[in-house]
Amino acid sequence: MVSESDILNSNIFIVDDEEANVLLLEKGLTLAGFTSIKSTTNSNKALEIYKSFNPQLVLLDLRMPGLDGFQVMEQFKEIEKSYLSVLVLTAENDHETCIRALKAGAKDFLNKPFDLTEISFRIRNLLEVRLLNNRILEQNQILEQKVQERTKELRAYHSQLLHSEKLSAVGKLAASISHEFNNPILGVRNILEQIRNQVSLNEPLEDLADLAISECTRVMGLASKLKQFYRPTSGQISSFDLHEAIEDMIILKKKNFREKNIAVEKEFFPDLPLLNAVEDQIKQVILNLLHNAEEAIGNDTGKISVTTSCQNSNLIIRVQDSGCGIPPGNLDQIFEPFFTTKGSVKGTGLGLSVSYGIIKRHGGDISCQSAPGEGTLFTVTLPKEGAIKEDLVEQVIS
Ligand SMILES: Nc1ncnc2c1ncn2[C@@H]1O[C@H](COP(=O)(O)OP(=O)(O)OP(=O)(O)O)[C@@H](O)[C@H]1O
Ligand SMILES: [Mg+2]
Repeated sequence: MVSESDILNSNIFIVDDEEANVLLLEKGLTLAGFTSIKSTTNSNKALEIYKSFNPQLVLLDLRMPGLDGFQVMEQFKEIEKSYLSVLVLTAENDHETCIRALKAGAKDFLNKPFDLTEISFRIRNLLEVRLLNNRILEQNQILEQKVQERTKELRAYHSQLLHSEKLSAVGKLAASISHEFNNPILGVRNILEQIRNQVSLNEPLEDLADLAISECTRVMGLASKLKQFYRPTSGQISSFDLHEAIEDMIILKKKNFREKNIAVEKEFFPDLPLLNAVEDQIKQVILNLLHNAEEAIGNDTGKISVTTSCQNSNLIIRVQDSGCGIPPGNLDQIFEPFFTTKGSVKGTGLGLSVSYGIIKRHGGDISCQSAPGEGTLFTVTLPKEGAIKEDLVEQVIS
C-alpha cells in the first residue's frame, strides 16, 4: 500500500504562465502537507525541469504563451518511460477541451478557479495511482529477474541432465562392448603367450608376438576401464576417512611422482568428518585426478597440491597442479566421454567422465578451473552423508 508520507513527499511540478496561480497552488499544497513542489511559468522550460525533477505529478495549464499545454504534454510523453500523471487546470471550461485534454493523456481535469480542498484530494488520488504503478513496475522487475535466474538454473540443470543421459547411453554401450571384447581377447593373448613361449621364433617374429601380447593387454585394460565406466565396483556406501583414501592413492602414484620430480603437498582439514560414500569409487576419482595432474606436468618438475575442507554438510577435495593447463576451448569438453588430447594410445578420454558420473551419482559436484600455462584446479564437492542417485546412471545390464 502507499503510505501517507510517500504521497506527501512526492514530486509535484506546476506548469502555468500565471504567476498568481502558481503562488496560490504552491501555498495551498504546502499547507496541505506536500513537501516537494517545483514550478515554472515558462512552458518552454518545462521539459528541461521535468527531466531533472522527475515529478510524480504535473499540474498543467493549457493556454500558455510559447508551448501550449498539449504540446508540453506531448514532450513529457516522449521521455516518460513509466506512467505520465498530468492534472490539467484550465480556465477553458468547455466540454470539448476537457475531452481533448483527457484524450491527449491527462489523467484528470479541473476548471479554474479551483477549490484548494478539491484539488488536494484529486492530487492525492492521482499520486496514489502513480505510486502504485511504480510499485507494480518494481515488482515486475524483481519477478523478471527471478524468472531469468530460474531459467538460468533450469538451463544448467538441463545440460547436466543431458550430460548424465549421454553418460548413461555411452556407458551401456561401452559396458556391453567391453563384456563382448574381454573374453576373446584374453583367449587370443593366452594363445599368443603359448606360441611365444613354446615355439622357437626368429627375432622379428618374436618382437611382433611381444607387441601383439602387449596390445592385447592394452585393449583388455581399455575394456575393463569401459566396464568401470558404467558399473564401477561394489556400489556399497560405507563410512571412511577421506584423508586415508587420498594418502592411499598418493602412495600408489609415489614412484611415478618421485621419478618425475613432482612434489606433492597436502593441506588436510583438521578433524575432517568421515565421508559416507562408495570408497573405491571415490578413490578412483582421486586417482584419475592425480594421474591427469601428473600427465599435465609432463617431464618438467612440478607440484601437485591436494587440499581438503569441510563446508556445511559437504566435504571438498581440491587437486591443483602446476601443469600445462587447459585451453578455454577444451574446458567444456573435458568431462565428455572419450575426449582426450593425449592421443588414442595414451589416453582413453574416460578418466574425467567416469569421475563426473561417480561424483554426480553421489549427489556431489566436480568442476575445473584452468588456463594454459597456469596449471589446473579440480574441485570435488561431496555431501558427507552420501547417497547414491540410481536414477542418474542405471545399473548396467549384465
Ligand atoms: N590436470 C589437467 N591438466 C591439463 N589437462 C587436463 C587435466 N586433466 C584433464 N585434462 C584434459 O582433459 C582431457 C580428458 O581427461 P580424461 O582424464 O577424461 O582423459 P585422458 O586423461 O585423456 O585419458 P585417460 O584418463 O583415459 O587416461 C585430457 O586429455 C586433457 O586434455
Ligand atoms: Mg585421465
